[in-house]
Amino acid sequence: MCGIVGYVGNNNAQKVIVSGLHRLEYRGYDSAGLSLWNPDTGELDTVKTSGKIGELESCLEHELPPGTTRPIGIGHTRWATHGAPNQVNAHPHLSQTGDFSIVHNGIIENYSALKSRLLANGFSFTSDTDSEVLAHLIEQCYDGDLTRAVTAALEQIEGTYGICVISKLHPDKIIAARQGSPIAVGICHNETVIASDISAIVQHTDRVVFLNDGDILTATADDTEILSHKNVPIAREATLIDWDIGQIEKGGFDHFMLKEIHEQPSAIANATRGRLLLKEGTAKLDGMKMTSREISRVDRILIVACGTSLYAAMIGKYLFEDYADIPTEVQQAAEFRYRNPIIEPNTCVLAISQSGETADTLAAVREAMRKGAEVLSICNVVGSTIARETGRGVYLHAGPEIGVASTKAISCQITILTMMALIFGRTHRLSMQKGREIVDYLSQLPKLAQKVLDQETAIQAVADKYASYENAFFIGRGYMYPAALEGALKLKEISYIHAEGYHAAELKHGPIALLNGDVPLIGLALNIPGRNKTCSNLQEARARNTPVIAIATEGHRDIEKHCDDIIQIPECPEFLAPICVIIAEQLLSYYIAKLRGCEIDQPRNLAKSVTVE
Ligand code: AGP
Ligand code: GLU
Repeated sequence: MCGIVGYVGNNNAQKVIVSGLHRLEYRGYDSAGLSLWNPDTGELDTVKTSGKIGELESCLEHELPPGTTRPIGIGHTRWATHGAPNQVNAHPHLSQTGDFSIVHNGIIENYSALKSRLLANGFSFTSDTDSEVLAHLIEQCYDGDLTRAVTAALEQIEGTYGICVISKLHPDKIIAARQGSPIAVGICHNETVIASDISAIVQHTDRVVFLNDGDILTATADDTEILSHKNVPIAREATLIDWDIGQIEKGGFDHFMLKEIHEQPSAIANATRGRLLLKEGTAKLDGMKMTSREISRVDRILIVACGTSLYAAMIGKYLFEDYADIPTEVQQAAEFRYRNPIIEPNTCVLAISQSGETADTLAAVREAMRKGAEVLSICNVVGSTIARETGRGVYLHAGPEIGVASTKAISCQITILTMMALIFGRTHRLSMQKGREIVDYLSQLPKLAQKVLDQETAIQAVADKYASYENAFFIGRGYMYPAALEGALKLKEISYIHAEGYHAAELKHGPIALLNGDVPLIGLALNIPGRNKTCSNLQEARARNTPVIAIATEGHRDIEKHCDDIIQIPECPEFLAPICVIIAEQLLSYYIAKLRGCEIDQPRNLAKSVTVE
C-alpha cells in the first residue's frame, strides 16, 4: 500500500531515495520520511513529515544541508492503517537506542500484544503505529548479526510486511524482507536499489529481482544474498523490465481503475485480516469501541452516505435486518442533514465514506451527533475528518483508491458491513453455528472475487457488443436492487452512457415505456431469492425487442433463453452476491468506457472526493 525505497552504493542515497519516492507518490500518500547513515557522525539522520514528498524535500533542505554524501538509506511514503497520518507516525521508525531504522508496508496484526510485551520489557514507544514494534523487536533480538536479528524479529510477526532495515552498527548493508507486500531489488553496478514498486527502480536498471514471501535479502553495494523462508540461501532469477514509466505506475494496467478492480481480492483480504473469529462465530472490529452490551441495546440503525457508498449502505440495510433483526434505515446524507432526523436513545447512526471527507456525509454526522446519537463510521482514509469526528469506526484497509470511480472501496465496505451485521447479530438472535457459516464464507471471499475477475475476457466480449448504445437499464430485486443502482452509476460515470438502475418490479410501473431495441437491459438474475420474478422481467423486456444481458449464476443455463448475452457469476450465498455482481459490473463498465475512448480515471465533471455541498 505504501512506497518503500532503499539504497546502498557509492552515490548520494538521499537523491536516489527522494526521486524514487516521487515515483511512488502517484498513489496518494499522507506522510513520508527517510533515514540516512551519516559517515561524518556515524548516526542515522532521520527526517519525517506529514504531507507529500514536496514537504519532505523542504524539511530536508534545512535539516540535512548538502555537503555530506550519505551512501546508504531507506525512505517511505505512508498510507496510514494504524495511527493518524502525522509526523510522529510517519516512517522510518527508530529502535529505542536509535541503532536501527525500519520502514514497513503492510499490517502487523498482533502488534498490540507485541507492544505490551515490549513495554513490559522496558521499551518505550513514540508512535501509535503497528510498525514501530518491529524496530524494537529487531533491537531486542540483535546479537551482532543484523540479518539474524531481523529474521528473529519477523518470526514473531503475524500479518503482512514489506520492509527495509538499516543500522548504524552495519552501515554497509540493507536488510529487506517480504510477506504479502511486494519488494523488488534493482541489480546495478556497485549499488543496489530496493523498492516496493519497480517504478522507483527502472531509472537505475532494467534488471530486477522480486522477493518471494518469506525471503530475506541482505544487500551491500556490491552483493546481494537472499535467504528463503527455510532460512537457506536461494538464487532468484532477475527479470528484464521493459515497461514505460506510465505503465509501471499503474502496475502494467492501462488505468488505475482497472488496477484497483483487480486489487479487490487482496483488498478484501486486508479488510478481514485479523478480524474474523471462526471459533466464536463472529468478528472483531475494535474501532467500533462498543461493548457487546452497548451493541445489544441498539434497536435501530440509520446509515448515511452518498453515491456508491449509499448503495453499499442499502446492502447494509439488508444485512443488518437479515442477520441482526435490527430495523435499519438508509438516508442520502444531504437529505438527512436538512430534514430534522428522528434519533432515538438507542439509535445507532453509521456513516459510510471512502474518502472520509464528503461534505454532505460529514454534515450528516455532525447533525446526528448534535442530536445525541452514537455515530460509527466506515472509511478508507485513516485520520480523515469523518473518521476523526466520529471517533469510532472501522477502516477498510483497502489502500489508496486513485480512480474516481469507486471499485475496491465498495466491495470492502460491504465486507465490513457484513462483519458488523455479524457482530450485531451475535448479540441478538444469530446463533454461533450461523455465525461460523458467515465467517467461513467471508474467509473465502477473496477467492470468490478472484473467480469473478477470471471472467474478464468473457465480460470484455460482452462489452464489445454494447459499447455503442447511448442508454441502458440495470434491474434487480432484494440484494440485487442496490447492485443494479451501483451498476448504472458505474456505467454512467465512466462511459457517459445514460444508464438507470431500477427495482425489477418497478419496470412495469413506467420505465418499461422506454424499452426498445436501443436500450439494452442488464438483469441481475443470480440464483438467489427473486430470481424467477426477475427472469419474467427479462422476458417482458425481450418481448419489446430489448437486448438483454443477464448476470446469472454459472451452471443455471435455463436463463439463456431469456437473454442475448450472459455474464456468469460463481455460486455464492445471497449476502455475498452483491460483491460478485458489482465486480462484474465494474469490468463491464470499464471495457465499454475504454471502447468509447473515455477518460476513465478522471471522468469529466467528477472529483474523487466531493468536499462541497
Ligand atoms: C463513486 O464511483 C463516485 N465516485 C461517488 O459517487 C462517490 O461514491 C461519492 O462521492 C461518495 O464518496 P465517499 O465514499 O468518499 O464519501
Ligand atoms: N501499517 C503501517 C502504518 O500504518 C504501514 C502502512 C503502509 O503500508 O503505509 O504505518
